[in-house]
Amino acid sequence: MANLSGGQERDQWGSKMGFIMAAAGSAVGLGNLWKFPYVAGKNGGGAFVLVYFIMLFLVGFTLMLAELVLGRKTKLNAIGAYRKISKKWKWVGGLGVITGFMILSYYSVIGGWVIKYLIEALTGGLSVTDAAVLGDKFGTIVSSTGGSIFFHALFMIATLGIVIGGVDGGIEKASKIMMPALFVIIILLAVRGCTLPGSMAGIKYLLVPDFSKLSMDVVLSALGQVFFSLSLGMGCMITYGSYLPDKENIPQSATIIPLLDTGVALLAGLATLPAVFAFGFEPAGGPGLMFVTLPAVFASMPMGTMFSILFFVLVLFAALSSSISLLEVCVSYVVDEFGMNRKKSTVLLGFITFLIGIPSALSFGIWSDKTILFGKNFFDLFDFATSNVMLPLGGLLLCIFVGWVWGTDKAVEEATNNGEIAFPLAGAWSFLVKFVGPIAISVVFIRSLM
Ligand code: TRP
Repeated sequence: MANLSGGQERDQWGSKMGFIMAAAGSAVGLGNLWKFPYVAGKNGGGAFVLVYFIMLFLVGFTLMLAELVLGRKTKLNAIGAYRKISKKWKWVGGLGVITGFMILSYYSVIGGWVIKYLIEALTGGLSVTDAAVLGDKFGTIVSSTGGSIFFHALFMIATLGIVIGGVDGGIEKASKIMMPALFVIIILLAVRGCTLPGSMAGIKYLLVPDFSKLSMDVVLSALGQVFFSLSLGMGCMITYGSYLPDKENIPQSATIIPLLDTGVALLAGLATLPAVFAFGFEPAGGPGLMFVTLPAVFASMPMGTMFSILFFVLVLFAALSSSISLLEVCVSYVVDEFGMNRKKSTVLLGFITFLIGIPSALSFGIWSDKTILFGKNFFDLFDFATSNVMLPLGGLLLCIFVGWVWGTDKAVEEATNNGEIAFPLAGAWSFLVKFVGPIAISVVFIRSLM
């Protein structure tokens, strides 16, 4: 399809279903399958999940709607969208684009591990039930210098390949195939996880809050996870919203997308944590959780090899449908603002992201002890800075912007297609954007810095 700028028609989603799949595809990703279970595991399980839900209701739905509406109103990339409404605010969009670069750079490193694991699964390398052996294998894979960079590069190339195809021809088409398959498999896996002997402890761990585990760190992690998992706070949903046709029912989409995302995160938790307990792993096992425990589960069940192949194909799909959205934020900016063609800008930005990702790729090997700031290595620092600082900050500024600069009256007008569709919660939403969002995010922020 033709590209935008210079009077040409802007890209648009081909269908409502296609948009929902693409947006849910952006939201559902490594954040759900890989991060949610281990962050929940690290932060006290049920206590974390409870706070996650509170944050989801207070800021998740609210910001999803705000971003989509802002995007469709302006029909511009993240920076352009802010600028069109108030020139003074365009740097907030800029902050988003930078955040997108940073996230994609390390996201792609994990995406690379997934490709490597898929190959291992295909060649029978994961048919091991011994946790220690799988743990060692994970260690060897992630710490190899050449290997991590190579697979990181492959993942970036796959991401580019889809984004070059454009909004409806690349992103939407790919998401429409990948997402439904993913939903089916994750349900299967969750059922399997919960029926393992000894899984009850894990289910309890995930769903029954232990309030003694609550701390400000848990709250900040949950807030960060809401932003990360829903792809909020950096203009991703502004960009995806900008490709929406005028008749689209945004309040409805802004409800469906977070529900799908949260559903998948919980299912991923149910697929992983019960198995962790059943197999005697540590729930606070960190980034290796998905890569070590799930293969052990698969290896011990009938048709395990097939399941592990299927699983890593789907993790790869989930990761790709998210990484394309991150790259699209940057591409959309360059295409809109500099009139560069899509192909060129995609390749250029993809290459830059690849370079920025290299230190993260080395953070599990030769640079694992290299602390950059706050005692964190490169990967941990990027992850912390983006999820726990830059995304919430972007979200806070978005609330202030939509609530007070653009104004909720105008936003509601856009959300209801000028009064054509019903949005009974408009009043509540306005209150959340104006007051609850900014206050909740600020409080968590300030408290966590103290
Ligand atoms: N939400 C994705 C995940 O859960 C990652 C992602 C895609 C993202 N786009 C984003 C995170 C924008 C933050 C902002 O894996």
